[in-house]
Amino acid sequence: MTAVVRTIPAATEWVQRQRAEGKSIGLVPTMGALHEGHLSLVRRARQTCGRVIASVFINPLQFGPGEDYQRYPRDFDRDLSLLEREQVDAVFHPETAEIYPSPPLISVCAGNLGETLCGASRPGHFNGVTTVVAKLFHIIPADRAFFGQKDAQQLAVIRSMVRDLNFPITIEACPTVREPDGLAMSSRNAYLSPGERSNATILYRALQRAREMIQSGTRDAPNVEAKMREMIQSAPGAELDYARVVDRDTLAGLREIDKEVLVAVAVQFGKTRLIDNMIVAP
Ligand code: PAF
Repeated sequence: MTAVVRTIPAATEWVQRQRAEGKSIGLVPTMGALHEGHLSLVRRARQTCGRVIASVFINPLQFGPGEDYQRYPRDFDRDLSLLEREQVDAVFHPETAEIYPSPPLISVCAGNLGETLCGASRPGHFNGVTTVVAKLFHIIPADRAFFGQKDAQQLAVIRSMVRDLNFPITIEACPTVREPDGLAMSSRNAYLSPGERSNATILYRALQRAREMIQSGTRDAPNVEAKMREMIQSAPGAELDYARVVDRDTLAGLREIDKEVLVAVAVQFGKTRLIDNMIVAP
């Protein structure tokens, strides 16, 4: 039976009850519109923790002006039935006013890590993510929290926040889940028209090409980036945001590929912004 908790005191009390029973707690933070990627996080949490709680909260702070906050898909009944099927123990689904009774005066700054890659075209986005994730970690003091590798920059930012601000929680990254044609699962894939959907495989194809180049001996990062840019720019309807080879922890740009790197792309299709990445070892 999955408990639905909607207030901060109820969530904290739920955690205390599980602790009193000697259970470890796994947290899966989400914004709903769940897909197989989220469910893989839940399954991993179930393997490693005594109790699993998922949060479903669309965080207004991480959407910029003109972004898709208003039209972000909302179907809590569907999300809840998927989570019930995965035997999640509790779902934290607060109203916006429960989390932000008034605009926060203090927030968590993601620093340089939040300004590169997606942060360059989504200013403030990662500060919104770190602020809500810090709040969730306080409201639900879990042992482990689970995030998808698909959002590699988010993962790097959250790991850094946990390390730098001494949050007593372990962050676990789970592999990207893909459609059969390679497109990374994302709640935003639902926005794509049929034509955009079939062209959107260019992100995965460009990453695969980058991996092939690196694994067959290319060490020049700008060369790999140029190939990815060329491929993406030739896909119909694709507007390239970035195609980069960066340090997987600091997200800093590289010239030479002499260790495991993060290869990351962001592409706009109409009104839909898609991201994807791969960790590649030379
Ligand atoms: O990855 C997401 O769905 C969101 O950024 C998160 C981590 C739930 C914070 O709102």
